[in-house]
Amino acid sequence: SRTAVVIPAAGRGVRLGPGAPKALRALNGTPMLIHAVRAMAESRAVSLVVVVAPPDGAPGVKTLLDDHALPERTDFLVVPGGESRQESVRAGLDALPPGFDIVLVHDAARPLVPVDTVDGVIEAVRDGAPAVVPALPLADTVKQVEPREAGQPEPVVATPERARLRAVQTPQGFDRATLVRAHESVTDNVTDDASMVEQLGLPVVVVPGHEEAFKVTRPLDLVLAEAVLARRRA
Ligand code: CTP
Ligand code: MG
Repeated sequence: SRTAVVIPAAGRGVRLGPGAPKALRALNGTPMLIHAVRAMAESRAVSLVVVVAPPDGAPGVKTLLDDHALPERTDFLVVPGGESRQESVRAGLDALPPGFDIVLVHDAARPLVPVDTVDGVIEAVRDGAPAVVPALPLADTVKQVEPREAGQPEPVVATPERARLRAVQTPQGFDRATLVRAHESVTDNVTDDASMVEQLGLPVVVVPGHEEAFKVTRPLDLVLAEAVLARRRA
């Protein structure tokens, strides 16, 4: 069964601060999106990558892909995204041709995920899991709070046992029909795709993630990403 990847890259990157859309920001001279696309195409199992571009940015992203060296054995499609990550992923799924039974969804904002993590996710879907997420144990203890206005002290409601928590990354891997059904039937705002499959009552499993699969979200993450790239080249 063939594997395709949808890369949502349509976000603005508000938390990163002013500038180009996050996926188009450079990391050591190369756009974050290109790093992310290469990370996915590096897996021999991946034969199609669908990039979901900012709503008015599809032609520019197409040019960007044409201008960078990418593996010959992988096909690329570019489609415009939507207002939310969920809508953007949906746009990518709608563009998937027949013949791909396994679909990965990978944030452009996780440009440095190692290929072993990608292959581990694909392997677990091939082994029969309808949904697979790479994840890591937490370093910080997590508190559930009663949210208050910024700057106001927030009452603690609970402290979930840290050893049972996982911080979830991408690529998340799915049986295609399951993911399509999840996107058709779940309308709540969610922050990852696997939680939509959970809402269908289907099993989701966790496989080991990787420290280098961290999400570039805030300015300090750019510093870390460039340091990781520099270390790889050394
Ligand atoms: N994303 C998307 N379409 C949206 C919003 C987000 O395709 N309407 C993508 C982002 O481009 C990113 C991934 O979803 O690759 C994860 O989202 P996040 O890290 O939150 O990125 P942004 O939404 O761009 O950042 P921010 O929330 O700080 O604005
Ligand atoms: Mg966002």
